[in-house]
Amino acid sequence: MCGIVGYVGQKKASPILIDGLLKLEYRGYDSAGLSTIETNSISNIKNKGRVNSLNDIPELSTLEGTIGIAHTRWATHGKPSVVNSHPHMDNSKTFSVVHNGIIENYNDLRIFLTNNGYNFLSQTDTEVIPNLIHYYFSKDTNNDDKKFLRAVQSACNDFKGSYAIEVISSLYPDRVIVTRKDSPLVIGIGENENHISSDIPAILSYTKDFYLLDDNNYVEIYKDHLNFYNSNLEKIEKSIKNIEWDATAAEKDGYEDYMLKEIYEQPKSIRETIGSRIKLDAPSCFDDLNFTKEYLSSLNKICIVACGTAMHAGIATKTLIEHLCNIPVEVEIASEFRYRNPIINEKTLAIYISQSGETADTIAALKLAKSKGCKTLAISNVIGSSITREADYTIYTHAGPEIAVASTKAYTSQVVLLSILGIYMAEILGTTKSYVLEDLKKEIFELPNKMQTVLNDVSGIKNFAKLVHKEKDMFFIGRGTDYAVSLEGSLKLKEISYIHSEGYASGELKHGPIALIEDNTTVVSVITNEDLMEKSISNVQEVATRGAKTFVVTNQNIDKSRFDYVVEIPPVNSLISPALSVIPLQLFSYYIAKEKGLDVDKPRNLAKSVTVE
Ligand code: F6R
Repeated sequence: MCGIVGYVGQKKASPILIDGLLKLEYRGYDSAGLSTIETNSISNIKNKGRVNSLNDIPELSTLEGTIGIAHTRWATHGKPSVVNSHPHMDNSKTFSVVHNGIIENYNDLRIFLTNNGYNFLSQTDTEVIPNLIHYYFSKDTNNDDKKFLRAVQSACNDFKGSYAIEVISSLYPDRVIVTRKDSPLVIGIGENENHISSDIPAILSYTKDFYLLDDNNYVEIYKDHLNFYNSNLEKIEKSIKNIEWDATAAEKDGYEDYMLKEIYEQPKSIRETIGSRIKLDAPSCFDDLNFTKEYLSSLNKICIVACGTAMHAGIATKTLIEHLCNIPVEVEIASEFRYRNPIINEKTLAIYISQSGETADTIAALKLAKSKGCKTLAISNVIGSSITREADYTIYTHAGPEIAVASTKAYTSQVVLLSILGIYMAEILGTTKSYVLEDLKKEIFELPNKMQTVLNDVSGIKNFAKLVHKEKDMFFIGRGTDYAVSLEGSLKLKEISYIHSEGYASGELKHGPIALIEDNTTVVSVITNEDLMEKSISNVQEVATRGAKTFVVTNQNIDKSRFDYVVEIPPVNSLISPALSVIPLQLFSYYIAKEKGLDVDKPRNLAKSVTVE
């Protein structure tokens, strides 16, 4: 998805902007560009393709400006091309703009501006922004220092949709103006310099002190100070947030890819997720939650709403929450939920899971639940992200920055956090015997070491991946929570190896999919639930007799000789087993993708943060 970087300081801006854009590459993009303020004019350099291609444009090395804005674009309106790349300038070349999000009413604005004598060069929605700013600027007869700001605000008042915007002007060569609505933007504070970005990791090497903007805030950013305004352009105060992530945490740390690094970080990230939220012999606690027995007893259901992997974390923990709390749990796909009329009300607790906290569908689904009177709880990995500002309550996964597009450590942290939430609510409700909860807590505490055990020997997984990497189709099967993790294993394989795969409940095989099994079809099955073990083994046998190659992830005492390859994982309560059994599946997909020579961190057509529908 698109990314934004900006710099206001004393150093040459262009290398700093390019460095920031490179750090945003993981988000996915198709073109890149930057503008700097040179002596009384704006230089604009952009190109289709990779950020590094900007270095091939000779003009880049001539830029001396110490203020600039930059962008990686992921096409929404108009194909990837130089002319559609950002920054976009107004006709008089006084204003230059980069923009994340979508201006939904851009067509009406374009007609309005065309009728007022403006021309458009690109097919983008963004190009209306600098021209509308110019329009309002030229109509304003008051020539005070806030004229530029007023023009930006007037233009934004006309926009429908979402945006994070940076604007510079050749008439105001000392500042960048930024604003946002439903799209992320942060400002990093340095010594006589300030950095701007849509994503914290892009500027984490320069500072750990950030201002997080709320919707419709406007900011004038100078090298040595900032002016914050609300939507009416009244001055407001903001406090600085210190972000604990260090810059190396956002880099590869010696691993070949971010994805592998993040897979290996899971023992650590789970320890962070657990934090001090659970203790043996003491009630669990979340600093930011104050649920009472009265409130939880009044609930008619819990709705967990999310997209992709985050939604799979909901499916993986539905059974645990229902089992411990005796409250029905429904798990919903955000893009479906938001467009139907779900039966939810003030007696429904609506939980929204989003690693990035910026997923457009998840945020819209949260707003819908709020409008129907539900209490909303966000689970996110990104402090201050949009979803956390919309929700009544937020709890953070604390998994650390996840850079690879394919989510790994965020998933296991979400599973663990939801499990702890289930325990916390059950303790308040008194719906589960305390020794059962204590046992589960012990199991959660043991997870990091068990994860490490799985990570210590991956040679078997690697070998099986090598054997099957040329396959066209695969199946992932399981029962109960093993079915939930099969869905996630299948998604991982699809997204990074481009192999078609399906995740199925083992019991469903006979109702159709078994027709697809033929000689050498690979079937991956997960078996961690003792009560369902025999039935699960029978299902694997059914596919094996039809010629399937069988790869089994298990912690049960099974006869290994009946399967092609078995990965043993440590014993774990099946209510939380997805947090452990997913690791061999993550590695399986990873090694297949590597075997195929693919870029695992940036799979085709995918973006890390899906901030548009
Ligand atoms: C898959 C993946 C996606 C995300 C989904 C939701 O590996 O990463 O399926 O899980 O786009 O993203 P967030 O959690 O940021 O809302």
